[in-house]
Amino acid sequence: MNSEPLLVSYPASAPLRGELRPPGDKSISHRAVIFGALARGVSEIHHLLEGEDVLRTVAAFRAMGVDARRDDAGVWRIAGVGRDGLSEPRDVLDMGNSGTGIRLLTGLLAGQPFFSVLTGDDSLRRRPMGRVVGPLTRMGACILGRDGGRCAPLAVQGKELIGIPYVSPVASAQVKTALLLAGLYAAGETAITEPALSRDHTERMLTAFGGEVGQDGLTVSVRGGIELRGVTMHVPGDISSAAFPMVAALLVPGSEVTLTGVGINPTRTGLLDLLREMGGRIDIGNERLEGGEPVADLTVFHSPLKGIRVPPDVVPRAIDEFPVFALAAACADGETLVTGAEELRVKESDRIAAIAKGLAVQGADIEELPDGMRIRGRPEGLPGGGVADAFQDHRVAMTLMVAGLAARAPVTVTGRANVETSFPGFAARMAGLGARIESHG
Ligand code: S3P
Repeated sequence: MNSEPLLVSYPASAPLRGELRPPGDKSISHRAVIFGALARGVSEIHHLLEGEDVLRTVAAFRAMGVDARRDDAGVWRIAGVGRDGLSEPRDVLDMGNSGTGIRLLTGLLAGQPFFSVLTGDDSLRRRPMGRVVGPLTRMGACILGRDGGRCAPLAVQGKELIGIPYVSPVASAQVKTALLLAGLYAAGETAITEPALSRDHTERMLTAFGGEVGQDGLTVSVRGGIELRGVTMHVPGDISSAAFPMVAALLVPGSEVTLTGVGINPTRTGLLDLLREMGGRIDIGNERLEGGEPVADLTVFHSPLKGIRVPPDVVPRAIDEFPVFALAAACADGETLVTGAEELRVKESDRIAAIAKGLAVQGADIEELPDGMRIRGRPEGLPGGGVADAFQDHRVAMTLMVAGLAARAPVTVTGRANVETSFPGFAARMAGLGARIESHG
């Protein structure tokens, strides 16, 4: 395990200052590649996230006959093959670390007239796939996998599908999108009802590509047979990546950092609400629309934070941000309580356990709960100095690196940090703000 390089993050010796444009949104980038591939005509995608997860999705479509190229200016052109234009991949599709990639493609492939196999890395092969395989099977899909179809590798024999109404027990955009993608190839209507609204990028993007999506409260629906048209699209900056410099600026005394072009879709801004409620000063300016999504520049100032009780209804709107939120809470004055967040246990790692262990090693007072955590803040800051395992989880690794910037002694991260999954060049980009994060070994 320790043959992997160690990452070391050093306490900031000066305030963090400057501007950072976060990389393209991961969720939106996956969807831009998928809908670009299925549309008729060429789609031109600007600011696509070139992280490993999205590049796996690009590779999967190339393996199904789609021409996707990046020009020297970083613009991607995807030559869409039309709704019936994909061809059978000759090899296993390896989705790497990406839950979004594997679940969305399982939905899409269920209705294709060919056979395919999807797999991923150790972390992905441990994650639950039954949540998509179950409802897809009810639509007529033929999917086999390990553990009775609950884990990858998944073998998909494409079938004629029938639209169903499905009431999902989890607020999951991956489940919703997998079923909507299958629904594009199913007879009749496919309708998904969620317990709370999960991110709605698929609905927005399907509309931008000329598709029709029905929306009625927490139910979204599509009809089979829709043809999509290629578009030009600008991917907003990922608020889930912006979260790391955001919390770093809040915690390092004297800091003022502007994050430009950040997506502020209301289904994604839970962290902003929580940090502001804790007393964080985050100014929102220059609001605009890009690719059907709201975008803004966020200026973040160092602020003393106080502990809060996280309302469970905010959880789906901040689900990917809890690792770094836990760090903010660990440095706040008073207690913070997170509940209703059991989904964190089935992310790239068990994020409740991984973050509780990782931050405790740096001196945080943090208690695991079955569905969240109780954090007693240390407003004087964390001692740091510990060596913590990232458990192959990019967001755990980046949280620990931000912890190092705000701690009194360096923080070391082991265990396949996988940072390139979502934030290529994280250390160098943070260095532009004055941070020091190094890779050793
Ligand atoms: C995503 C949905 C969320 C999120 C993940 C990306 C998506 O997962 O945690 O990082 O792009 O649809 P769930 O659908 O499992 O909640």
